[in-house]
Amino acid sequence: MHTRTLGQGLEVSAIGLGCMGMSQGYGPNPGSRDEMIGVIRAAVDRQITFFDTAEVYGPYVNEELVGEALQPVRDEVVIATKFGWNIRDGKSVGLNSRPEQIRRVAEASLRRLRTDTIDLFYQHRVDPDVPIEDVAGAVGELIREGMVRHFGLSEPSAATIRTAHAVFPVTAVQSEYSLWTRDPEAEVLPTLAELGIGFVPFSPLGKGFFTGTVDASAPFSDGDVRGTIPRFEAENRAANTALVDHVKQLADSRGVTSAQIALAWLLAQQRWIVPIPGTRRTERLDENAGAARAALSADDVADLDALAARLGVHGARYNEQHMAYVGR
Ligand SMILES: NC(=O)c1ccc[n+]([C@@H]2O[C@H](COP(=O)([O-])OP(=O)(O)OC[C@H]3O[C@@H](n4cnc5c(N)ncnc54)[C@H](OP(=O)(O)O)[C@@H]3O)[C@@H](O)[C@H]2O)c1
Repeated sequence: MHTRTLGQGLEVSAIGLGCMGMSQGYGPNPGSRDEMIGVIRAAVDRQITFFDTAEVYGPYVNEELVGEALQPVRDEVVIATKFGWNIRDGKSVGLNSRPEQIRRVAEASLRRLRTDTIDLFYQHRVDPDVPIEDVAGAVGELIREGMVRHFGLSEPSAATIRTAHAVFPVTAVQSEYSLWTRDPEAEVLPTLAELGIGFVPFSPLGKGFFTGTVDASAPFSDGDVRGTIPRFEAENRAANTALVDHVKQLADSRGVTSAQIALAWLLAQQRWIVPIPGTRRTERLDENAGAARAALSADDVADLDALAARLGVHGARYNEQHMAYVGR
């Protein structure tokens, strides 16, 4: 696995591991907690060095899992986590990026992650009630004290990135980006290129859709976030399958898998892009990590782009409630 460099010189494996699904978001876990620790450690064996979690995943238990799994190799890996919510009775109940809350979360995350520094600390969603200058200032203070190494933002607008970066240099922006979620291309990616900030696409496999393993019509289980997302509604899902079929054809012609095409497409966009596919299965780790070797030519990328533009996407990437939180 080769490495890539995000902003401010943060070097990570070209493909990371998203750990959220081990604790929430994709329905019942096919494995036990011990098996999830095994998956995370198997990722390290495959030279994956970039691990993504958040206070709110679980909440709390995902950070605890990641902390336990990575404790033996702490110095060899980069752990990213996120602040920005009020959490009550095991549920997020709205945004909170006030400086005192950021510090409280950092202290608690450090304990759960069993470490003395958070490598990359993202604001999970921009909080309209707290000026981004105050957020950047608060994270900057934690960085000066050594509790945090790098500052990140998730789902911000280009204007917010600019303002934050002027107060304290941003290392990475994490937003949804994949063959069917192109929102960052208009303003965010050009801004990152200009400012020298890295980009971490979340849900890079389209929440599993581009792997070709999502049934065309079966309902999702309880606790599977896809059951709340318009583009996964039965009619939209069926219409969106045309692009998945094309990805599969391209994959077959190259002797790789659909997941590898979806990830290789992201890697081909910019050398400072580092996707974090999520999986709870060791065999899929191998497959996803293998995308780092499945290079796509400029023609392949252009063909996929043209096809995606022609087919369009049916349905929004979030329901209305969640859409209100992004791009601020
Ligand atoms: N900043 C944010 O707001 C935000 C939001 C969402 C996610 N994230 C981060 O981004 C990470 C990745 O996003 P994501 O998990 O939502 O979506 P994703 O990586 O696009 O897709 C995950 C889904 O794909 C399946 N999958 C993974 N590899 C596969 C393969 N090779 N073949 C077939 N199926 C495969 C997984 O199932 P199995 O687990 O069963 O393999 C899971 O259902 C998360 O873990 C989280 O850390 C951040």
